Amino acid sequence: VRVYVPRDTTALAMGADAVAERLESEASTRGSDIQLIRNGSRGLAWLEPMVEVETASGRVAYGPVSAGDVPGLLDDGMLEGNDDHALACGPTDAIPYLARQQRLTFSRIGVTDPLSLDDYRALEGFQGLENALAMSGQAIVDEVKESGLRGRGGAAFPTGIKWQTVHDAAGEQKYIVCNADEGDSGTFADRLAMECDPYMLIEGMAIAGLAVGATQGYIYLRSEYPLAKRILDEAIARAEQAGYLGADIRGSGRHFDLEVRLGAGAYICGEETSLLESLEGKRGMVRYKPPLPAIVGLFGCPTVVNNVLSLAAVPYILARGSQAYADFGMGRSRGTLAIQLAGNVKYGGLIELAFGTTLREVMESFGGGTFTERPLRAVQVGGPLCAYLPDSQWDMPLDYETFAEVGAGVGHGGVVMFDDSVDMAEQARFSMEFCKVESCGKCTPCRIGSTRGVEVIDRIVANQDRAANLELLEELCETMEDGSLCAMGGMTPFPVKSVINHFPDDLQR
Ligand code: NAI
Ligand code: SF4
Repeated sequence: VRVYVPRDTTALAMGADAVAERLESEASTRGSDIQLIRNGSRGLAWLEPMVEVETASGRVAYGPVSAGDVPGLLDDGMLEGNDDHALACGPTDAIPYLARQQRLTFSRIGVTDPLSLDDYRALEGFQGLENALAMSGQAIVDEVKESGLRGRGGAAFPTGIKWQTVHDAAGEQKYIVCNADEGDSGTFADRLAMECDPYMLIEGMAIAGLAVGATQGYIYLRSEYPLAKRILDEAIARAEQAGYLGADIRGSGRHFDLEVRLGAGAYICGEETSLLESLEGKRGMVRYKPPLPAIVGLFGCPTVVNNVLSLAAVPYILARGSQAYADFGMGRSRGTLAIQLAGNVKYGGLIELAFGTTLREVMESFGGGTFTERPLRAVQVGGPLCAYLPDSQWDMPLDYETFAEVGAGVGHGGVVMFDDSVDMAEQARFSMEFCKVESCGKCTPCRIGSTRGVEVIDRIVANQDRAANLELLEELCETMEDGSLCAMGGMTPFPVKSVINHFPDDLQR
């Protein structure tokens, strides 16, 4: 009997290794013949470790399983797929949280053994690359343009147009850099993609290389993801051995090499130009733009810098065609969004859906409300640089343009929920303080402004000269927004202003 126990960071943190060991020892004591497979996670965080058993009618799930649950589960016929046990969730694909999703990018996570090339190939893996090998660079760029894919790191710049710029730039050497410095609060989709389906990212980067004429790629990975590093290193080695990377990809004479480089814990190194500085071995300081990295990037060469999820969407587009991807979504937001539901939530996890769903649907019908079961009060979508949204904004469709119209952002898809015990003045202060701590220090509005911002909020909360200090805070926000060199200082005002506009009572003591 095949039994699956995930081994991504979430499942491991919840004791998956102990569950796997117990399963093996109990099965051998009982003389049961099991084949233990360490798969990735399906992204249903609250059910981890979620153990699956393969039955004649498909995989059935049990979760959250602890090592101590194993004997009871075996007694109750888990290996036969019995669904009487309290931890039984029934057929995995029918779990409503999963069944209601539209998984294009994340279709394989949790299904496969992340390092198995056979598993990957069996589920359409490397078909996009095989197709791309038969196409010109321009044809690949056109396919990505027509899919409507936009940068999933947060800025939503059209990926195909970025690739076109690098394709058209003159240069002997070009690079593909994957931004895997996932730093937004509440986000974990990049990690899941890398830990649970690493070949998808490798394939996406190789296709990007073929598209723009780059022969070298780097994955800039945050050092807080040691498991992703081990999995990626091993996957790269196996992909090379199987001819999907290296000097002669699948006998085509085309060349693409890939390496993982580790960051050192600075949020600002997720900004593309500081990331490039850091990759070059320097301190992570933001560069002036222009020139864009697409023209003058890594080591002065034309460089594609894309987020993990942008690159991970590419194999599907090249395998199925641009239209298949563009068929999902709304308006100019095509395809799917990887929503990462976190914070004070009952059922947190990864929810991949076409653009256009509402926050309320995500938080209530998927998330099941708050973990504390108190009323939901605020939600921050898009990371620490994006707005806090009140109840009146939870019915807006999740779409880049709709969110931008109200001064909010979809960002990287992180959704962090807060119940009614939240102090929004504290949250506004935290936004300024986060900027103060993480600022690279290159420009004054951000370096000095964030420090002054914390002080001004403290004075407002302490009721010192309230009206004048509120006016000062608004002016300071305007200066940071207009005068900062990058999104760090330029967007910090968004969460602060959202507190002033939507939660003004919290600033009154
Ligand atoms: P941006 O709007 O300046 O640039 C977007 C991308 O398009 C960049 O890669 C830029 O080089 C490229 N680009 C612009 N014009 C181009 C052209 N003509 N040809 C080729 N490429 C072109 O935004 P930025 O500063 O890169 O990112 C800001 C965003 O990052 C924010 O919206 C925020 O949501 C997000 N963010 C994400 C984080 C995460 O952990 N994923 C953390 C912090 C911020
Ligand atoms: Fe550095 Fe902040 Fe200026 Fe960005 S806005 S360049 S992080 S000082």
